[in-house]
Amino acid sequence: MALRKIVTEGDDVLLKKCRTVEKFDKRLWDLLDDMGETLYDSGGVGLAGPQVGMLKRVCVIDVGDGLIEFINPEIILSEGERDCVEGCLSSPGEFGIVKRPVKVKAKAFDREGNEFTVEGEDLFAQAMCHEFDHLDGVLFKSKVVRMLSPDELERDDEE
Ligand code: NI
Repeated sequence: MALRKIVTEGDDVLLKKCRTVEKFDKRLWDLLDDMGETLYDSGGVGLAGPQVGMLKRVCVIDVGDGLIEFINPEIILSEGERDCVEGCLSSPGEFGIVKRPVKVKAKAFDREGNEFTVEGEDLFAQAMCHEFDHLDGVLFKSKVVRMLSPDELERDDEE
């Protein structure tokens, strides 16, 4: 396993649509291992393929309940709407308000190529929407209602 460099905003790779994964092979597993390690090293909750320069429909998420690997994910149901404070490992230090569903149901494949479905609420639902958007070249800042000012961020830190 190895840490991969996280691509930051300004790099076109973040704006491209990713390719569907067709081979569930060692190369994919190495990528997923590295993405998991890179996510934990970063302190974030999710990381998508383009953020490590790979235009593949893969992402990893851990909102505190263990790592989940998503390959070729799709949202099949979403419910409700709430205002979320959101940031991205590719936009360090920047946060804004984004409207996200309260509840999301998604299907995806695991690293062995088995399909699974998963339901998530609140932060987990938000993370799935955010990471899956990355696979279509969509960054949270294109959906942001309002960016938070440095003052507001400081207040958040104190809470
Ligand atoms: Ni992101």
